[in-house]
Amino acid sequence: MRRKLAAGNWKMNGTGASLAELADLGERHADPAVDILICPPATLLSRAAEAVQGGAIAIGAQDCHAEAAGAHTGDLSAAMLKDAGASAVILGHSERRADHSESDAQVRAKAEAAFAEDLIAVICLGETLEQREAGETLKIVGDQLAASVPDSATAANTVIAYEPVWAIGTGKVPTLEQIGEVHNFLRTELVHRFGAEIADGIRLLYGGSVKPGNAGEIFAVANVDGALVGGASLKAADFSPIIETLENA
Ligand code: 13P
Repeated sequence: MRRKLAAGNWKMNGTGASLAELADLGERHADPAVDILICPPATLLSRAAEAVQGGAIAIGAQDCHAEAAGAHTGDLSAAMLKDAGASAVILGHSERRADHSESDAQVRAKAEAAFAEDLIAVICLGETLEQREAGETLKIVGDQLAASVPDSATAANTVIAYEPVWAIGTGKVPTLEQIGEVHNFLRTELVHRFGAEIADGIRLLYGGSVKPGNAGEIFAVANVDGALVGGASLKAADFSPIIETLENA
């Protein structure tokens, strides 16, 4: 079966002082029943990797460039992230799609670059409120899945995160039926494309205003294999109960 995954996306938050939260989290979860991934800003990657060394928490990045090296001021390659201690990278987050006009094709190329360095790609997709209200949700996430996920995706190298744009940082969460509908749809699409053996192993995370108080009902939805958590991943005291809820789901 799929091992559950609790992933934290710190976004553009955190300085050296935040490493104490990571150490705290590591002490609370020395032998977790689920995978734990924290994705701090790139400036903290190597220090975060040091802070969790010997423990159960993995460290990931929040983006990478599609090319291995070259004249791309300000960008980071997958090899650099790996060198800094990352074992995963979030790709195609809606904030990057919006702030940096990232296309599905770019996300796919970045995922291929991540695979080449043995990094797990956490590929994000999700509809806007306008798209949901227009009844386009499944079409949008289906198209994003088809175009953002490389043909070489496997259960080992790929995690999909469904993050409705309107649920991110807003405190608004889709109904459990809506989450279930999208996750079942994504699983079916993966089976069609990759076959049941690969598709059944690919983890599907839900993301968007996951908190200790709503994690239990979300984790009970079929095909929800964990969460990608923003705000509530910044403090060990908030993220720890979410991890425990996932362990008991
Ligand atoms: P919040 O949990 O803050 O809504 O953020 C979700 C998210 O975007 C994680 O990638």
